[in-house]
Parts: sequence; structure tokens; C-alpha cells
Amino acid sequence: MYTSPSSPILCYSPRVTVIGAGRVGSTLAQRIAEKNLADVVLLDIVQGMPQGLALDLMEARGIELHNRKIIGTNDYADTTGSEIVVITAGFPRKPGMSRDDLLRTNAKIVVEAAKNAIAHSPNAIIIVVTNPLDVMTYLAWQATELPRDRIMGMAGVLDSARFETFIAMELGVLPRDVKAMVLGSHGDLMVPLPRFATVNGIPVTELLETDTIERLVERTRNGGAEIVELMQTGGAFFAPASATCVMVESILLNQSRLLPVATYLRGEYGLEDVVIGVPCRLGCGGIECVLELSLSDEERAALQASAKSVRQNIDRAQEILMAAK
Ligand code: LAC
Repeated sequence: MYTSPSSPILCYSPRVTVIGAGRVGSTLAQRIAEKNLADVVLLDIVQGMPQGLALDLMEARGIELHNRKIIGTNDYADTTGSEIVVITAGFPRKPGMSRDDLLRTNAKIVVEAAKNAIAHSPNAIIIVVTNPLDVMTYLAWQATELPRDRIMGMAGVLDSARFETFIAMELGVLPRDVKAMVLGSHGDLMVPLPRFATVNGIPVTELLETDTIERLVERTRNGGAEIVELMQTGGAFFAPASATCVMVESILLNQSRLLPVATYLRGEYGLEDVVIGVPCRLGCGGIECVLELSLSDEERAALQASAKSVRQNIDRAQEILMAAK
């Protein structure tokens, strides 16, 4: 007679919690499991929804050829012991809204989620995805009092992927051959750096006219809004989930990838007490180092303008949170 194994076949599997089972959160859960990176706990306040999505993902395991568990829950107790917690909870944009318009609705949601998550997984690394991204990362950092290497925001990888896509489309080359970096806030003042963009090492400034590059930079800045306008209900989620998964993978597998990450700055780039996207090395400890590039005067001014706007929104968010107490 057949008896089931009494202990799990895989003795240890890392655990990633994804808070918010909307389109970004559920697609991220799928990517993490199907890339065989970790077990996933998908948490949402809506009863039944994360459970349904988790069951659906579990039923695809035999076809997708992985053995990762996906648990759907409304209870933070199920997230206990997570190595990484990704916060996607909050409201997405509607057409015509900027990411900053979401400040009021999302501040409280993100702070609560971060505090609850860290209470159950005190050693976790947190990645914030909810918009307005840089401000939400700052609030979560403040609420959890985590060291800055363990709390960060996802946006630069997405913005860079969009810039790379538009360059690849313009030149008709393979997208993976294009490498670019977008720094600054995840908003209208983001700072794409054409000077550092290459196709297999060839600077794009050698391949494209200045006007064309400027058009692609503008399209990148408007990349999220372009999709919101097209979809009308909700926004992008495939590329945001892929970009977040890159960060999860670099941490879990200790890949030490050098990626643009929203991090708390302590004087780097002449900026202090603000969260903004800059190049960071991501490994098993989280942010292993913050790289300070020598920027041109123009690039530095753009980064400062970006940081100033984030700082103003941090102050606004803090007022909103105080008033709600
Ligand atoms: C976007 C959202 C994720 O840029 O901010 O599509």
C-alpha cells in the first residue's frame, strides 16, 4: 500500500510574502513560483480572493513543472518567517491621475502592511511597489525602523526596462542587448541617463540622434500613464511584476546585481533623508552598497529636482498620517 511521505521532499524552501493580490501581486506570485525561486504567501484583505488565486496557481504546477507552494491568506500569521516581503497593496491609478494623487489613499495601507509583515518576519527584507513608490518606501522604512539595506522600493528596474524597450524598438535590435539605467523618483521627474545606455557596449548616443533619444526619454517618463490611458481600468502589471521579480531573485540567489533601486540616502549624490532611485548592489543582505556615479551638472540637477519633489510629498504624507491618528 502506498503511504505519503511524512516529511516534505524539499526540506527547506525560502518564503516570499506578497501583500496585495491585485494584478501586480498575483502576477509576481506566479513569476516567483514558476521561476522556482521560493514558496509564496499571497495576502490580501479581500476574503477568498488570495485563496482562489493561490489554488489556481497550485493547479498549474504540474504543467509549469515546479514544486513551489503558493498559499493564499487574509492572515499575517501565515506570512511568518518570510525571507522577503513585497508590498503591492493599495489603489492603482485611474486615467488622468498622477502617482502622487494616490498619496492619501495608500500611505496608511502601506504603513500598516509593513508593520504587520515585520512583526511576523523580523528578519525579512521588504520591497515596496505601491505608488507613489519613493514616498511609500520612506514611510515603510520609518514605520518599521529597519536598517536601510533591508527596505527598498521597486521602480528603477521597471523604468529602465521601459527605456530599454523603446531603444530596442527604435533600433530594431534584441531587447536583451540593450542596457540602460533610469534613476530618480518613479514619476514625471524620473532621470533616464542616455549617456549610460548601450547596445552590447555601444553607446546609444552613437546610434541615435539627440531628438530621437529625447523622444524615447519622454515616452519612458510617461510609460506608466501610457498604459493606464490605454487600459482605462488599472495599469501595467506584467512588466512591474517582472521588474520586482528581478530584485527578489537577486536577493534570494545572492546574485549581487547592480540595479537601480529606491533607497534611503544619507548624503550620497548630495541628498539626505529622502528615498530615491540610485544604482545599488542587491544580494542576500539586501542593499549591499549604494553606488555614487559622477553625474554631469544637468543630470545632477535633474536628480535633485526629483528628490525635492519626493521630499515635498513625504512631508505631505506625514501630515496626512498625523491627521488620521
Ligand atoms: C507603472 C506603475 C507600476 O509605472 O507605477 O506602470
